[in-house]
Amino acid sequence: AVIRLEDYRPTDYLIDRAELDIRLDRHATRILAKLHLRANPAGRPAVPLVLDGDELRLVSLAIDDVPASPQAFEASPERLVVHAPPAQPFTLTIETETDPTANTKLMGLYRSGSAYCTQCEAEGFRRITYFLDRPDVLCVFTTRIEADRQEAPVLLGNGNPVAAGEAGGGRHFAIWHDPFPKPCYLFAIVGGRLDKVADRFTTMSGRAVDVAVYVEPGKAADATYALDALKRSMAWDERVFGREYDLDVFNVVAVSDFNMGAMENKGLNIFNDKYVLASAETATDADYANIEAIIAHEYFHNWTGNRITCRDWFQLCLKEGLTVFRDQEFSADERSRAVKRIADVRVLRAQQFAEDSGPLAHPVRPRQYREINNFYTATVYEKGAEVIRMLRTLIGDDAFRRGMDLYFDRYDGTAATIEEFVACFAEASGRDLGHFAQWYEQAGTPTVNARGHYDAEAKTYRLALTQVTPPTPGQPEKAPQVIPIRLGLVGGSGAEIALSPAATAGHMPGVFVLDGPSATLTFTNVPEKPVPSLLRGFSAPVRLEIDLDEDELLVLFRYDSDAFNQWQSAQTVATRAILRAVGAGTPPAPDRRMADALRHFLSMRAGSDPAFAAQVLALPTEADIAREIGHDVDPDAVHRARQLVKVELGAALAAELAELYSQLSSREPYVPDAAGAGRRALRNACLDLFAAGRPAEGEDLAMRQFRDADNMTDRFAALGVLSHLPGAARETALAEFSERFRNNALVLDKWFSLQAMIPEPETLERLRGLMRHPAFSMGNPNRVRSLIGSFAMANLTQFNRADGAGYDFVADMVLALDARNPQVAARLLTAFRTWKMLEPRRRAEAEKALRRVAGTPGLSPDVADISGRSLS
Ligand code: ARG
Ligand code: ZN
Repeated sequence: AVIRLEDYRPTDYLIDRAELDIRLDRHATRILAKLHLRANPAGRPAVPLVLDGDELRLVSLAIDDVPASPQAFEASPERLVVHAPPAQPFTLTIETETDPTANTKLMGLYRSGSAYCTQCEAEGFRRITYFLDRPDVLCVFTTRIEADRQEAPVLLGNGNPVAAGEAGGGRHFAIWHDPFPKPCYLFAIVGGRLDKVADRFTTMSGRAVDVAVYVEPGKAADATYALDALKRSMAWDERVFGREYDLDVFNVVAVSDFNMGAMENKGLNIFNDKYVLASAETATDADYANIEAIIAHEYFHNWTGNRITCRDWFQLCLKEGLTVFRDQEFSADERSRAVKRIADVRVLRAQQFAEDSGPLAHPVRPRQYREINNFYTATVYEKGAEVIRMLRTLIGDDAFRRGMDLYFDRYDGTAATIEEFVACFAEASGRDLGHFAQWYEQAGTPTVNARGHYDAEAKTYRLALTQVTPPTPGQPEKAPQVIPIRLGLVGGSGAEIALSPAATAGHMPGVFVLDGPSATLTFTNVPEKPVPSLLRGFSAPVRLEIDLDEDELLVLFRYDSDAFNQWQSAQTVATRAILRAVGAGTPPAPDRRMADALRHFLSMRAGSDPAFAAQVLALPTEADIAREIGHDVDPDAVHRARQLVKVELGAALAAELAELYSQLSSREPYVPDAAGAGRRALRNACLDLFAAGRPAEGEDLAMRQFRDADNMTDRFAALGVLSHLPGAARETALAEFSERFRNNALVLDKWFSLQAMIPEPETLERLRGLMRHPAFSMGNPNRVRSLIGSFAMANLTQFNRADGAGYDFVADMVLALDARNPQVAARLLTAFRTWKMLEPRRRAEAEKALRRVAGTPGLSPDVADISGRSLS
């Protein structure tokens, strides 16, 4: 069934309080839920009460403590209907039973390892008990959890702990009370044998909060980084947004089986252990950065998501886009802002632009869905964050902060909408944001075209800008968007040319706002022909087309005061070189300018800003190039062309790369901070490029680094380089790695993923072999994503094999998974989202595989939705 935004209406009943008693048992967990209900004044009077369920089994039902007669209600696994509820406030006491061990969907109450845990967002609470399972029903929960003390010595719930004790027969209990009304998707419990690291955080008003991270026994040492990131997040939200934590405890629990990254349950965040556990030996710098970002993200949800939640699931970006924006800002403050921005834009382009240009494109706020779990997308999250960022660019930092304060003030304790959110900023800034808000409604990535003309006589520079957004499913006609373009003019010798104020009048300094189909900007008193630097800091999620030649791009690379555009111009030069090689099929005449510019850059910047230099050395990905081509893509040609350019560049810079590599070698012990990570990133980028240009020497160097490394960042980077060099060394290194880490599933995930990404025809066979590896399991989402997800999402040539075998394999995996875990299956299937831009033969093969999936009887709604939309 299709759910539509315009059909929203409030519930007919409210649930003000819920008292749950959960008696944990491996196969027969009993849930006794006492719900305090009343008619909703905003709903229809005297209608039946309809509660949601999903695969539930009702054991007993009482209305106002009296057992309900069979005629009074109707119960199915999906629904509980009370035909004529009391007119006055009343209670329902519902007893249900579930088997957490059999719950392979990992939604609702399930077992992960030896622990019990829950995942309720979006619609998992209805798998625990019958409820009004929607975000606009706010309820105060009290939860009693009971379990065998041996099996589950630790019992955690939302809110504050209020009591604990013996329950007889070797069992014990804990009672948790959460004073903040919340929707049931934020409900959670955990029970199990867990170790913890704990600390205390004192909030800005002096409240002491016990903070802890719980992990599998024996792994507490690996949770200290997460705990530290949590305390830094708490301090940052006070400092930057004035937001203070509101309970006596804050707990994080890491579990091994989790459909997504993590979940912001009130006072009890539950995490995929991949985003908690870290040690120098087992986690890379990138893992540490992810842990920091996701710990922050879930913590920040306490205000943006929990204290203020969403009226309905169409408003998902209200909490997700905003919270991603907040975690991005946190990481930017904790690390390098410029490098963080580049990394975020890479992700945005790889994930969101890809989604936005294919059959799964949808607005940041969708208007309809069949399966809400399929809308936890790059568009809702990443583009949603970009919309917030644009809003801040448009109205300025001060008005933005006033708008946020107003939002917290006005909507605390409520379930809000995008309209209500935007209105706070309109009010705080005194601007009409009506047109701007179209970013929430209109899908597709706008293309902005810029053409410059310099009049040497008049000393004026004219910039003609146009925008166009291509059609997306259900939106054939597009209107112009409000596009903030942060810009500057750079002189030929690098000086920033002052902008005549008239050019960007009415906007924030240095920002031009393109809000119609076209506009012409005139700058006066421009002493020389400038190079325009547009979209500084990537000020809007658009594609920019601009008629700069290589020399002009290299001026920006060398002199632009905006680090993002420095990086972007180097990427553009490299992209063009690769595109020329795709066209020619042979190495293009070597372009000395690029190598020379990089050589100069490295001599100037490698020492002072290694993390940034590493970003510059990383060539655009095959997927970047494919998107740039846009249609009739041949992934093999893209791969060959990129490889040619990489080899050529690596050879041209070999001496400098080797020199830099050895300069950056360090005898210092590993510290996972931004400075150390930057040096390692650059050193490993040098190794990668050097090995492309000088494969024999590169292999030796990589092998030595692989064996000598004292940390996973260097060891795994070296293995990555080796994995792209066919031969015996690669197989030796892979074998040594799996032997060394045979007991660490998260490290073996890296090993699975690396092999799945090898761009060789033998990879598919290798993959089939790895699926029989004892550490692999189709039941664990991390394993599936590492092995099969990496192949489908990140191995462009092999997933898109011309014979269709890659598609068939992934389609088989989707179907095999669907019966067990539809959410993970549907996510895997989104690998087909770019099939329409392939050349005809591959397009036909991809379509055939998609049709086979779509035509399989008994599909889950999740997979049926993705396959159906992918084919539309
Ligand atoms: N709210 C979580 C987060 O962004 C994501 C949970 C999504 N879960 C799901 N089953 N769709 O932090
Ligand atoms: Zn989130």
